[in-house]
Amino acid sequence: MNISKVVIPVAGWGTRSLPATKNIPKEMLPVYNKPVVQYVVEEAIHSGIRDVVFITNRDKNVIEDHFDYNLQLEATLERSGKTDMLAKVRAVAEMVKIISIRQKRALGLGHAVACAVDVCSNDDAFAVMVGDDLMFGMSPGIQQLIDVARSERKPVIGVMEVPQEEVSRYGIISGEESSPGIYKIKKLVEKPRINDSPSRLAIVGRYVLTPDIFDCLERVSPGHGGEIQLTDGLQLLAEKTGLLAVKIRGTRFDAGNWAEYLTANIYFALQDSELRDDLIQRLKALLP
Ligand code: UTP
Repeated sequence: MNISKVVIPVAGWGTRSLPATKNIPKEMLPVYNKPVVQYVVEEAIHSGIRDVVFITNRDKNVIEDHFDYNLQLEATLERSGKTDMLAKVRAVAEMVKIISIRQKRALGLGHAVACAVDVCSNDDAFAVMVGDDLMFGMSPGIQQLIDVARSERKPVIGVMEVPQEEVSRYGIISGEESSPGIYKIKKLVEKPRINDSPSRLAIVGRYVLTPDIFDCLERVSPGHGGEIQLTDGLQLLAEKTGLLAVKIRGTRFDAGNWAEYLTANIYFALQDSELRDDLIQRLKALLP
């Protein structure tokens, strides 16, 4: 199964993160010294993917620009001998090949994925990574899905166990565990009520899908919140071809949730040995 592209939808409004996101895309908010979406792209690269399909809109050009050369800035850095910084800036421009598709109206995550039909329908399979979900762990989250998709020759979605009181924030799956951490999906429900949830296995923003998803999404009508829900398309895909879920090993931060976003900033800053001790002292001083 050849998987060379990742679709990264970045065309949402980011209303939970207002007013910070009034003019800056949520995906460009910094987590320590990089924008959120760069962590997502780097996860794809570490999983062997070099072609990124951004599903974007008129206000989000800055995302594509981030992964392109900035010749004026580079000339300035070169002139002033800031070679380390120059190398970092150039490396971002050279990371991936970008394909950009406009989602002209933000009609939901399912609709955003459907916008990729023209560039992905001839592929064996392709990855989808939500542009504001950060993950790190033993191996990149999307790599864990790619491994299972290749060995089982089926589409795969990533899940993580969440506390019962949080199930209504997510799409939730039910299914049978066919081998440790791998589930054959029976049912998917978008944002169930706490007492109606079929499990605590929440869909997180990582998927490996086959082009069969495009027909399925065409048949979906607006669901929860009036949006075309990817979860509803995945239910049809489960019935059509079968769909597996993999429990992702690692930690996840939703950059659209302030507590998780701020924790991610501290987590990644603590990995920098030059900053770590100073940061810990300053954080301790803030605590009563
Ligand atoms: P979210 O569910 O976080 O939606 O989307 P959102 O609209 O951006 O944010 P809130 O809930 O209003 O705060 C997950 C990802 O899917 C993209 C978003 O840009 C985000 O990266 N998305 C969402 C689209 O590309 N198009 C859509 O129609 C909806």
